Amino acid sequence: MQSATDSFLECNAQGLRQAKELEMNRRNAHRQVMKLVLSVSLWVPCWTALAQAMPLDVLHWWTSAGEQLAVEQLHASLLLSGVRWTDVAVPGGGGMAAVKVLKSRVLMGDPPDVAQLIGTTLTDWNDMGLVMPLNAVANRQRWAPTLFPTVMKLVTYKGVVIAAPLGIHRINTLFYNRHVFTRLGLLPPANWEEFEGVAHKLSAQGIKPLAWSDEAWQIATVFESILLGEVGPERYRELIVNRKSSAWLEPGIEKALTRLRWLRNINGDTPKERAWTDATRDLASESAAMQIMGDWAKGELMAWGANPEKDFGCVAVPGTQQMHLYSVDTLAMLSSKNKRTATQEKLAEVVTSSPTQLAYNRAKGSVPVRADMDVASLDSCARDSWSVFAAPGSARVPSLAHRMAADEATKDAVAQALWRFLITPQMPAKAAQRRLASAVRAP
Ligand code: BGC
Repeated sequence: MQSATDSFLECNAQGLRQAKELEMNRRNAHRQVMKLVLSVSLWVPCWTALAQAMPLDVLHWWTSAGEQLAVEQLHASLLLSGVRWTDVAVPGGGGMAAVKVLKSRVLMGDPPDVAQLIGTTLTDWNDMGLVMPLNAVANRQRWAPTLFPTVMKLVTYKGVVIAAPLGIHRINTLFYNRHVFTRLGLLPPANWEEFEGVAHKLSAQGIKPLAWSDEAWQIATVFESILLGEVGPERYRELIVNRKSSAWLEPGIEKALTRLRWLRNINGDTPKERAWTDATRDLASESAAMQIMGDWAKGELMAWGANPEKDFGCVAVPGTQQMHLYSVDTLAMLSSKNKRTATQEKLAEVVTSSPTQLAYNRAKGSVPVRADMDVASLDSCARDSWSVFAAPGSARVPSLAHRMAADEATKDAVAQALWRFLITPQMPAKAAQRRLASAVRAP
C-alpha cells in the first residue's frame, strides 16, 4: 500500500511536471506571465481523494514565473491535507497593487480568507480586528522553540501569533552573471572600490554593469542595501527602526545617496521604470552583468532554467558581508463571515512544516523560517543566506522597502523621496536628506 509520503511525492512530481509544461507553453506564448495561472483544478485527478474542504481564497502578489512555481509547492502540500487554495494573485512587484485590492475588498465587506500581509502591515490589520489569532496552531506545532527567534518575534504581537511565516528573503543580494564574469576574468566585488573596477571593465566591453529599474520600490530596495553597508547595522537601526529624524542629516546618508545616484547612471543610458523581472531578464541575457535585488530574483532565474552554481552567483552587496537585511513573507488568516477557522489553521500548520518549507523556499529563492532544518540540499546562495541569518554574531536588520520596519505610508514616503532625488539631477543630496528626515516619522 502507498504511504502518505509516497502519495505526496507522486502528486508533487505530477504537479511539477504540469507546472514545467505550462512554463514552456508560457514562454512560447511570448511570456504572457499572467496567463500562467496554474490552477489547482489541473491537479484534481491526483488529489480528489485528499481534498474535500471548501477552497480558501488567498490574496497575494506572487505573479512572476518563479513566484508562481513557489505557490505551486504550497498548493501541492496543502492538497495532501485536504486544503484547497484559490489564487487571488494581484500583479505588481513589492505588492503595491495587492495592498490596495485588499483594502477595497475589506471595505466592501468581502475580505479573502488568507492574505499575504507582511511586517508592519500585519500589526495594522490586526489592530482593526481582522486577523485571526494562530496561538493554538503555534502551540501545537511548537513554533516558539522551532522558528528563528527573529521570525517568531515578527509574527507575534501583544502576545498573540498573527501570521504563518513562509520564508526569509535576503535583500542585500548582489547577483552576477557567471558567464560574463568568467569570460572577462572578473571576480564578484567585495567592496565599492572593486565594484568600480569591475564596472569599468564591463562598460569597456559594452556590457551594462548593473540591471536597473526606476520603480520607486526597487530604488528603495537598492538604497537600503547601500545604506546598511555605509552606516553599519547600529546606525541603520537608528535611521530605519527608531526613525531618528535628525540622524538622516548626517554625512553617511549623503554618501549613500551619492552612491545611489552613481549606480543609477552607471549604464550611461536613460533609466526606465520597469518590472523587476525585466531587469532580471537583462542579467540572464548578459545585457547586464549584475543586479541588486532581494533573492526572489534567484527563484525567477531558476524558473527560467538558470542554475545558481553555473549561470549566476550571489554575494552580499559591498560592505554588507555578515549582515542580513531581511524580509520575511507571511500569510495572515483573516476573520470573515466564511468561518473557515479549522481549514485556515491547517494551512498555517502545513506551510510551516519541514517538507513544505524546503519545497517552497527552494522555488521562491528565500530560506526556511525553521531553525531546525538541514539546508545542505539548498543551493549555495541559500546556504549562505541561511548561515548568515542563523549565526549568533551576524547583524539581522529589517527591510524598510519591504514593510519590515515601518508602516505603509512611511515606507512609501521614503521611496518617493528617493525616486524624486534620482529623477531630479539638479537636486543636491543634502536637499534629499531633508526630505527623508521629514518622511520618516518616529513611531
Ligand atoms: C515580497 C516577495 C516578492 C517580492 C517581489 C516582496 O515584497 O516579500 O515575496 O517576491 O516583493 O514582488
